[in-house]
Order: sequence, then structure tokens, then C-alpha cells
Amino acid sequence: MGLRIGDIAPNFSVETTKGKIDFHDWIGDSWCFFFSHPADFTPVCTTEMGRTAQLAGEFDKRNTKPLGLSTDGVKEHLAWIEDVNDTQNTTLTFPIVADADTKIAQLFDMIHPNESDTAAVRSVFIIDPNKKIRLTMTYPMNVGRNFDEILRVIDALQAGDKNGIATPADWNVGDKVIIPPSVSNEDAAKKFPQGFDEIRPYLRFTTIG
Ligand code: BEZ
Repeated sequence: MGLRIGDIAPNFSVETTKGKIDFHDWIGDSWCFFFSHPADFTPVCTTEMGRTAQLAGEFDKRNTKPLGLSTDGVKEHLAWIEDVNDTQNTTLTFPIVADADTKIAQLFDMIHPNESDTAAVRSVFIIDPNKKIRLTMTYPMNVGRNFDEILRVIDALQAGDKNGIATPADWNVGDKVIIPPSVSNEDAAKKFPQGFDEIRPYLRFTTIG
């Protein structure tokens, strides 16, 4: 069975393009965006690696460390990074896990045998500082991920943790948020002195700073 939201991410020690890491120690007090790729020197993967590198400042703002994985070795990864930097006009600084034996990909259920026995699909794990898996997404090999959505969901998770709220469809920072049904109107009035709109008893919106 695959990993699920709420599970503690399995720990591992592995070689990366930035040296050996212990996954949990490396995450430390940060959040982690752990994402897999089928192979080095492939076009969709190259654009995704480049986009992640270009967004380094955005991940930093969210206290989130990107960690890539591709089922190749350090030597191939380092050569590929040169190409990513060159073709995507960026400087990639986050580590990429070397996983030529697919050990980590299997640990995280990133190999989907009906797609490929040897290469990972495009999995995403958002992991919080307690090492808990907070989001999983899986994309097929021929579709690049939407990095606006990855940043948006980190914002939503962090806003939820900080304010005890939920976020509606297509929410972005600055939009109204939802007061969970588990909070009574009496408690909501105390918790959200800025007030709230009650559309239905189960559908209440408020604002957060
Ligand atoms: C790519 O990154 O372009 C790719 C890799 C494996 C299969 C299909 C596409």
C-alpha cells in the first residue's frame, strides 16, 4: 500500500548531488517538497527541474526545501544539472537524490509498474516539519506539474495550520477562508474578531491577515 496523507514520511540515508543526507535530519525544521522524475536528460523533467530552481526564492519564503529524485546516479545528475542551468536559464542549487537502484522510489511508491518497471512517475510529497505527509499528487510521465499549484497548496497548508481554517476551491493568499464546521458560531466570534459571513450554518467565510 502506498503512503497516505497523515503518515510519517519514511526516513532514508542516500547520496545526493549535495552529498549524503539523512532525509529527516535534512528536512529539520523546514517543510519539504519531495518530487520524483522518470529520468535525467528528458525534456519534461528538464523543464520541471528548471522551474523549481527558478522558484528558489518562493520556496525559501515558505520555509520549504525542494528535494528532487530521478532514477539515475550522482554523476548523471551533475551532468544533467549543467544542461538544466543552460537550457532553463537558472542555477539549480537544491539536492537531487541518486536512485539508480530505485530503492527510494520504491519506498515512496513512485514506481508504477503498469507505467514503467524501472522509472519513477511524477510524484509529489509535501512534508511538514514534523515529517508528516500533508499532500500527495501523482502526475503521469508526459505531463509536467503546475508549480503555481505546488506553491499555492503549501500556502494553504501553512495558513490552515496557523489560523485553524480551511481554504475554498481555487483559494489564493488574500482570498476569504472557511471556518471549519467543528467551530461553533460562539467560538468563531472569539477566534475571528474581524467577523464572518454565514452563507449557511456549515458555510462560513472570514478573512485572515
Ligand atoms: C520527459 O521528461 O520528457 C519524459 C520522461 C519519461 C517519459 C516521458 C517523458
